[in-house]
Amino acid sequence: MSRVYLIGFMGVGKSSVGKRLAHKMRWSFIDTDNIIEKELGITVQEVFDQLGEEWFREYEQKVLIKTTSFQNTIIATGGGTPCFYNNMDTIINNGLCIYLRMPPKEIVLRISQSQKKRPLIDNLTGIELEKFVEKTLAERETIYSKAHLIADALNPNLIHTLEQQIKRDFGTIR
Ligand code: S3P
Repeated sequence: MSRVYLIGFMGVGKSSVGKRLAHKMRWSFIDTDNIIEKELGITVQEVFDQLGEEWFREYEQKVLIKTTSFQNTIIATGGGTPCFYNNMDTIINNGLCIYLRMPPKEIVLRISQSQKKRPLIDNLTGIELEKFVEKTLAERETIYSKAHLIADALNPNLIHTLEQQIKRDFGTIR
């Protein structure tokens, strides 16, 4: 089972951490949102606008299932991926699942500064954005916390720490 799934809220750095980790471990890296965009030829924002969130969630689940056959791969999921259908079970049963945890205030700061288009928060600013992040994170936390490992996404030695944890823990969940 040579797969690591990175889960966590929007903006916590799943893709950038995943890329750096994959590079260090000489593994492949994929981001489920990127697969969706490549396969459909439109952005996630456009999928939400043109086809709706439910359609996106169904497609996202299909993409997640495809990743269960990937080898030596770090997989960054979308922030909502584990929270729909039985996706969290799929993740947990097919790889080492790492939750990148970050306090809501820091998440708000990072997503407000990010250039990435995110349909769920597209029209939100200031206090509305803060409330959305706090509420949605609280709802998702129960699911995210089922991960095999919970990592402090603000840890300055995050990549090194994760690499060590992956090496140490992999044998135990194989
Ligand atoms: C979503 C997170 C996004 C993307 C979509 C929905 C969510 O991915 O999948 O906009 O429900 O949290 P990132 O976590 O990579 O921003």
